[in-house]
Parts: sequence; structure tokens; C-alpha cells
Amino acid sequence: MIYKHLILLLSSGVLLAPADTASETPNYRLPKTHLPNEYNLTLKLNSGTFKGKSKTFTGTVIINITVLDKSSKEIKLHADSTYITVNSVKLNGVTELSHTIDVTSILTIDLGTETTKDSLSLTIKFKGIHREDMNGFYLSNYQEKNTAKYLVTTQFQPTHARSAFPCFDEPEFKATFQVKIEHPKSVTALSNTKGTTTNEWFSSTTTFEKTPIMSTYLLAFIVSEFTCTESKTDAISFPHSVCSRNETIEMRQLALMDGPLILAELNNYTGILYETHMHKMHQLAIPDFSAGAMENWGLVTYREIYLLWSEKESTNINKQQISTVIAHELAHQWFGNLVTTRWWDTTFLNEGFATYFEYFITHKIHPDWELDKQFIIDEYHSAFEADCVISAGALKSNVSSPSEVSAIFNTISYSKGGSILRMVEHILGSSVFQSGLQAYLKERSLNYTEPKFLWESLNAVSQSLLNDLDLNTVMKNWVENPGYPLVTVNVTGNKVELTQKRFLIGNDPNKTNWHIPISYTQSTDKNKFANTFPQTWLKPNESLKFAVNESSEWIILNNQHAGYFRVNYDDVSWEKIRLALKKDDFDGIHELNRAQIANDVFGLAKTGYISYGKAFAILEFLETDVSYYSWSSAVSGFNYLLKRLGTGSTLGQSIQAHSRKLITKLYESVPFSKLNNTDHIYTAKQVMALSYACQIGIESCKTAALGEFDKYKTTKIRPDPNLRKIAYCNGLRYSKDKSNWEYLWDSYKSTDDASEKMTILSALSCTTDKELLNKYLEFSIDSSSGIRSQDSLSVFSAVYSNFDGVEVAFNFLKNNYVQIKTSYKSLNALVAGLADTFTTNGQINELKEFIKSLDTQEYSGFITAAKGALKSAESNVEWVEKYKKELNEYYGIPQPGSSCILMISVNVFVISLIGLLFLI
Ligand SMILES: *[C@@H]1O[C@H](CO)[C@@H](O)[C@H](O)[C@H]1NC(C)=O
Ligand SMILES: *[C@@H]1O[C@H](CO)[C@@H](O)[C@H](O)[C@H]1NC(C)=O
Ligand SMILES: *[C@@H]1O[C@H](CO)[C@@H](O)[C@H](O)[C@H]1NC(C)=O
Ligand SMILES: *[C@@H]1O[C@H](CO)[C@@H](O)[C@H](O)[C@H]1NC(C)=O
Ligand SMILES: *[C@@H]1O[C@H](CO)[C@@H](O)[C@H](O)[C@H]1NC(C)=O
Ligand SMILES: *[C@@H]1O[C@H](CO)[C@@H](O)[C@H](O)[C@H]1NC(C)=O
Ligand SMILES: *[C@@H]1O[C@H](CO)[C@@H](O)[C@H](O)[C@H]1NC(C)=O
Ligand SMILES: [Zn+2]
Repeated sequence: MIYKHLILLLSSGVLLAPADTASETPNYRLPKTHLPNEYNLTLKLNSGTFKGKSKTFTGTVIINITVLDKSSKEIKLHADSTYITVNSVKLNGVTELSHTIDVTSILTIDLGTETTKDSLSLTIKFKGIHREDMNGFYLSNYQEKNTAKYLVTTQFQPTHARSAFPCFDEPEFKATFQVKIEHPKSVTALSNTKGTTTNEWFSSTTTFEKTPIMSTYLLAFIVSEFTCTESKTDAISFPHSVCSRNETIEMRQLALMDGPLILAELNNYTGILYETHMHKMHQLAIPDFSAGAMENWGLVTYREIYLLWSEKESTNINKQQISTVIAHELAHQWFGNLVTTRWWDTTFLNEGFATYFEYFITHKIHPDWELDKQFIIDEYHSAFEADCVISAGALKSNVSSPSEVSAIFNTISYSKGGSILRMVEHILGSSVFQSGLQAYLKERSLNYTEPKFLWESLNAVSQSLLNDLDLNTVMKNWVENPGYPLVTVNVTGNKVELTQKRFLIGNDPNKTNWHIPISYTQSTDKNKFANTFPQTWLKPNESLKFAVNESSEWIILNNQHAGYFRVNYDDVSWEKIRLALKKDDFDGIHELNRAQIANDVFGLAKTGYISYGKAFAILEFLETDVSYYSWSSAVSGFNYLLKRLGTGSTLGQSIQAHSRKLITKLYESVPFSKLNNTDHIYTAKQVMALSYACQIGIESCKTAALGEFDKYKTTKIRPDPNLRKIAYCNGLRYSKDKSNWEYLWDSYKSTDDASEKMTILSALSCTTDKELLNKYLEFSIDSSSGIRSQDSLSVFSAVYSNFDGVEVAFNFLKNNYVQIKTSYKSLNALVAGLADTFTTNGQINELKEFIKSLDTQEYSGFITAAKGALKSAESNVEWVEKYKKELNEYYGIPQPGSSCILMISVNVFVISLIGLLFLI
């Protein structure tokens, strides 16, 4: 599954609040007394469903079960009674059995007596209601030529198969599935395997081939009027099709091309052919989809924006997202589907691999996208943010209830999981890593997995590389403990001493330590930063001493950022690095290490390890650096400060002025007028640099963006897709013409293209007009406005991500939480992000009051989430109090009493706004 949403928030280290910890935790797990082998599932759909007139279906499931514990007088499996009513249960097709469903969705079937048989079969007849919240077996609709079309589709991961049919809904209980669906003739049914349709008088029946042995969460079926296009390629020897609503037929080309290429690369990489177990692949774009995409075996589903591409309307970023999301889901066909995490507590065994291959498989077919390098800024850096707070969980974290299970689909499982795997790749070397993975997949095929199986397989091919260490020992702390190390380097003469501690906001009572692979480069090295193998190891509870070349001017640890850790140096060593970075070609310091230094110094300053003065001195090299990677780190570092301090405050103004100065060379290297869409990284850099330049108020950027917007309004020709968001956003942000917003909103309603809709949706939040922002939020809960419910939350987060929108979004939440809960389908998810934008104690108190006013029963989930969010908002505000002085000193801002600062900042803000209006 991919959980990322398109409007990526400036990530802040806020994790979803842990799920409720009730005083008595009910049992959500099934006993291992009975194992399912085979399911025969027959579903009868209602013809009214496809006319919007019915929401029900009926079904029969026959399950062949192996009896492990013959003394057990009952069988437990899952059925969610909110959506499923069990009509009858029969043993071996004859004996009627009594049954109950409890609040944890466990269906207990009473056998009455012990059994002597090794196997038995259960026939369960049930009625179901289609869900409408994009989970389980859900009903959805879209418009085609002004008529509503209805479809039913599934999203079972992680715990929703039980709301479609009774089953053993835990990943370890693998079985085969034979699915049969009775449906109206007007629609087509698809499932994991190939289907054969027979037509009867009024309806059709589609019978699907038996699936391989697999987990329930990977089962899928979709009944719709979608059409499909088959890839014409000899890259693979089995059919590969892309399906969607027919009006998007032209937009399937990219997926039709890249899908088979990626499957072929994965076939080659894993050494296990996809067609060994599956004989076709369908990739489907679903108009309403809660996750980003879902890896159902042989029937992968996506949000439209992650599968459909238009030459004319889509951006380079869209293109990269589509290819990488496809690679993520297709990698799951091996890592997740063929070999499945035993329980969700180690979800990273699925998601970490999918994240890793998202980059490294796509890299093989699009090498010019530099995804191997993008991995650092996208995944390592996101993981670093999330993994340095006290609430961060470990890769392996106990989960039991469905809400705990959902919460582990987080940055730690995905980004840290992927980062750890890349670290292991560099410990072993890429080819040893690959052969270890091949052995692992072979050994665990059609079975469950646990971390030890992975490390054992990798270890078996790599003993000699680790001296006295084995991978199981090395990886234990990385998997079982939260956090990551800060390695401190202390150089005296030619002697280097390394020590470690957890990099954490706050103190680490657990004194966590790791086995850390160390590589380094000295200024005298010939092949600087090329070697990413560990040259030595820093072991838990020991320091490491080694000697360096006398004539070396500097030493930098962690070549190309292979290891998942930060580095701090003694003052003299930092000064040497600072000077080296100012030399021609940065004295050979690799761009990934420059990106890392930028990310590290912002991180170290934020936690008080070094002063902001020192951090900014080291960052002076950015003035001459035009690397996408260095700057990507820098932009997030500055944006963090702006978010905490507010863009309108004196400090916020100083930070913007400071970054305007640093960015000049980069900004001038990627002007509006110089498009080069075939150069992927140039374009990525251009989009990043111009967005930031306009955001921090570089005059020529604002003028150019406004010019683009006006040109669009007069000619009706949309700007270049890649620069469109910048033109739209700044066309609203910096224009006094309110009709620009209405103009863009009309354009949103009239386009049918998912990526253009998304671009406009995020740009609409850029206005500084509070009435418009509020109106926009009103639209997000009005189903007739044209905003799809899958996008409502993105609208909300886009609004509070605009500094001017925080108050608006908060008031909107307070006034409309009842409607938000129904139309967003989720209320809990929005509070962490909102509270993370708080900058004052006033806001915190308002949130406390709001929590108090809520019904504790009905809003218990929200209250838990909000309390977690409050905690991090409080520590954010404390952070500001603590570091404001240091930053004020750095910028030479006089420090009056705190109430005055507030007055001044408000004034400066108003003045700057007025100034803006006159300048334009
Ligand atoms: C499922 O159906 C097939 C025939 O389609 C039959 O051979 C098999 O025994 C059935 N399995 C169960 C568990 O009833
Ligand atoms: C379950 O399946 C096994 C293997 O196909 C078969 O031997 C057994 O008879 C089946 N049991 C029942 C009760 O259908
Ligand atoms: C799908 O769209 C194409 C092109 O617009 C059209 O030729 C075809 O008839 C449509 N098919 C269906 C089933 O609507
Ligand atoms: C498979 O990968 C290897 C490198 O791992 C490469 O040499 C070979 O050309 C690839 N084969 C195909 C068919 O892509
Ligand atoms: C699955 O793995 C377990 C543990 O290694 C093993 O005992 C079991 O036999 C395997 N099951 C199958 C079907 O291979
Ligand atoms: C660095 O090492 C020297 C010599 O061992 C020692 O005196 C000094 O305290 C160390 N500095 C830090 C910051 O640990
Ligand atoms: C320290 O370890 C305990 C027990 O494993 C855990 O509950 C706690 O959250 C840990 N503290 C931190 C800061 O990681
Ligand atoms: Zn995934």
C-alpha cells in the first residue's frame, strides 16, 4: 500500500497519535487451533447497486480448514458485524452450527464437541452491506457524460476483508481462493486471477481461477463499467492491462509502457518469475480511493493520479510518481504477496522493501531521474524527522487492534524501513545483497516471514564481510529500538575518536546504542566518497579510535550517506569542513554528503548540539551550490524555521531575507523562461527553486509568476505543466484581484484530469484572503461542490499549510466538526497536522477548550489524537521560546519583552502585506 498523499506536508516529525490504549485490551487475534487451506467464495451482487438503488449483496463462503487442535470445541475467524450478517453456518455441508460475533469482529463457531478429523469444512451464508468509506467491499461512483456510474471495489489491507466476507483475516493465515461473482450483464468483474464469464438470462457469472496461497488482505474484486487496454510488449510473457473509466482511455500510455518494464526488471532482480504463480496483471485507476495504491496480487489498484498520465497536462513530478508508485506496488508482488510479514508488527518487511524498490527498480528504467540519489532526500530525511521524537515507534512495534494496525502504516515502516535496507545493501555490496534477497524469497515463498529469516538469508551469503559480526546481531537494535544514532567525531592530531548516542529531541533514558557501519573520506583520498562499504564498525557501548592521514585537511563520515545516522564533529573539524565547502568544486565533497551536511546542521542546531550561528556559517556554501540535493535539504530546513516562527514575524522576515541571499545563484540558474522538461532533475530543481523563491518573496519571481497567471487568464492557455502550480499559487497569493481565485475554481470544476485537479486544489489554498480560504473549506464538506471525498483532507491540510490559513482551518474545524467527520470520512487524521502549525500558547489553549467541549464517547478517537497533537504543539511552542533568543542574536534583532515582539511582528506583517499590494 502507498499511503502518501499528493499534497505533501512539510513534515515535522509528528506521528499519528498512538491508538487508544483501553485499560482492558480485548483480544483481537485468532488462536492457531484451525488453519484455512482453501476458500470458495461466491458473491451475488444486486443489479440495483449499479443504478445507485441498492447497497446490499449476499454471499456464500466454503472454507476447508485443517484442525491443529482437536480438543478445541470452537473455531474463531473474523466477520465485521457492522457490514456482515451471518445467516447460517454448516459443518461439512450438513450440520448447522451456532455462532456469535463479538465487538472485536471475531466470529466464534461452536462445534459442540471435540473432533477426531484432521480437516473440516465450513459453509457460511451471509448478507453484506457495501461500505461507502473506501474500505472493505465499497460502493463508489463517478460521472460519465453527465450520468452517474456506480462501481463496487475493494480495499482490504490491513483489516477490512472481514467486512466483505467471513475469513481468517490475519496475514499469516494463507490459503487459496476461488471466487465467483454473479453480477448484471452491464458490468465487468475482475479479480486477482483470470476470469471466465457466462451469461444467463438476466445476469452474468464470472468464475475466477484458483489463486496461489495468499493472505486475505491481498484478495480483490472490482465490478464496474471500466474498460481496459492491454500492453503490447515482449518485455513480459503474460497479459498486462491498464483499466480505468473509459473517458481516461488516452491516459493509460505511461502505465502501459512502464508496468511491463518494471515487472521484467523485478523478474530479473528477484530470480523468481511473476508468472510462476500468477498469469496476468491488471492495474486499475479508481476514482475514489483512500490509500495511494494497493498491491492486490494480480489486480493492483491506484488513485487516478498515481496511474493515469497525460502528455499535455501532467508534470514531470506526476510522471515520476506514477512510475515509482507502480514500482512500489509491483515490488510488493514479491515482497508482501509472495512473502508476507507474519504479523503487522513488522510491516516494514513489506513496506520497507516496496519503498526501497520504488526508487531502485525504477532507477533501472529511468536512470536520468537519479532516483538513487532522490532516495536520500525523500526517504532518509523524512525518516530522520519522524524518528527523532520520543513518541516514535520502532520498526518492530506491538500492534493488536485494527486502529493500532492502521497506525503502523507510517513513516517509520516505509521510510525508515527502506532506509535501513539501503544501509544493509551498502554493508554487503549490491550484488551480495541481491543474491541474499533471492535466497530469502525462495526460502519464504508462499509463506510468512519475520526479520530473522531475512537476516539469516543475507548472512548466509555474506559471512566474510562482517568479521566477527553477523547480520542478526547487527540489525537487532535497528529493528527493535526506536530512533537512530548521532555519531560524534573528535579529531586530535591524527587520532579520531567516534562515540554514539541516540539523536533525540529530549533525553534518551534508554541509552540506545547500535552497531554502526562507518565509512569516511579524507581530503587526501583519491576516490573521494566512492567507497560505501563499512571501513570499520562503531559498536554499542564502545568508542572507536583510528588514525587518519597526517596531511589530510578534513575528514567526513558516511560516504554518500549510506548509513542511517547523523554526524557531528568537534569545532575544529567543522571549521575545516566549512572551509573545504567554500573551495572550488566543494573540494570534492559529494553532493549527497553536501545534502547530508545541510540536513545535519539544521537538525543539530534545532536540538542545540550546535548553535544556529555555526550552522549558518557552514551553510554559506549554498551560495555557490546549485545541486538539487543540497538545496532540497536547505529548503526544508528553512521551511521548518518559518513554520515555527511564522513568516510574518521579524525573525521570519530575517530568515526569508537570509535565504533570498543564499538562493540567488540557484534561482538564476533555473529561470521561468528556460524550460527543459526532458532534463528531469533540472525540472525538479526549477520547480523547487522557483516555488521557494516566490514563497520567500523574491520580486522578479513574483512578477514572473503573476505574469504567467495573467497570460493564462487572457489566452486561456494553461502555463507549462511543471510551472503551473507556481503560476496558479502565486497568482492567488500575490494578486489583489480576487477574481483570480474564482477563475481557478471554475477551471477546477471544468477539468476532468486528475492531476490538473490536484494542482489546482493545492493552489487554491495559496490565497491570503481568509474569506476565500473559508469558502474553500466549506466546499470540502459539500458533496455537490465537485471536490471528491478522497481529496477533502488534502484541501484542509493545504489550507493550514498556508500560514494565513491556520486560524481559518482551526475555526472551521471547531464550527464544523460534525460535518467534517461525515464528509472527510475521518476526523482523527487532520488534527496532528493542524496542531503542528500552532505557534502560540493561545492556540494551544483554544484546542484544549475545544477538546473539553466534545462528547467523550463519540469523539474518543479524535480526543486521543488531539491530545497527542497537543503534546507536540506544546513542545513546539517551548522550542520557539528556547531558540528565539539565539536566532534574534544571530540576526541582530533587538530583544524587547515578548508581548512587544508579538506587536511588532503583527505590524511588520501588515506593513509587508500593504507593501505587496502597492508593489504589484
Ligand atoms: C471449491 O470448489 C471446487 C470446484 O469448483 C471443489 O473442487 C472444491 O472442493 C471446493 N472447495 C471447498 C473448500 O469446498
Ligand atoms: C480439505 O482439503 C483437503 C486437501 O485438498 C482434503 O484432503 C480434505 O478432504 C478437505 N476436507 C474437507 C472436509 O473437505
Ligand atoms: C470508450 O471510449 C472510446 C474513445 O472515446 C470509444 O471509442 C469507445 O466506444 C468507448 N467505449 C465504451 C465501452 O464506452
Ligand atoms: C538482468 O540483470 C542483469 C544485471 O543484474 C543484467 O546484466 C541483465 O542484462 C538483465 N537481463 C535482462 C533480461 O534485463
Ligand atoms: C512456513 O514456514 C514455517 C517456518 O519456517 C515452516 O515451519 C512451514 O513448514 C512453512 N510452511 C510452508 C507451507 O512451507
Ligand atoms: C576530544 O578528545 C580529546 C583528547 O582525547 C579530549 O581532551 C577532548 O575532551 C575530546 N573532546 C570532546 C568534545 O569529546
Ligand atoms: C525506553 O524503553 C521503554 C521500554 O522498552 C519504552 O517504553 C520507552 O518508550 C523507551 N523510551 C524512549 C525514549 O525511547
Ligand atoms: Zn506498500
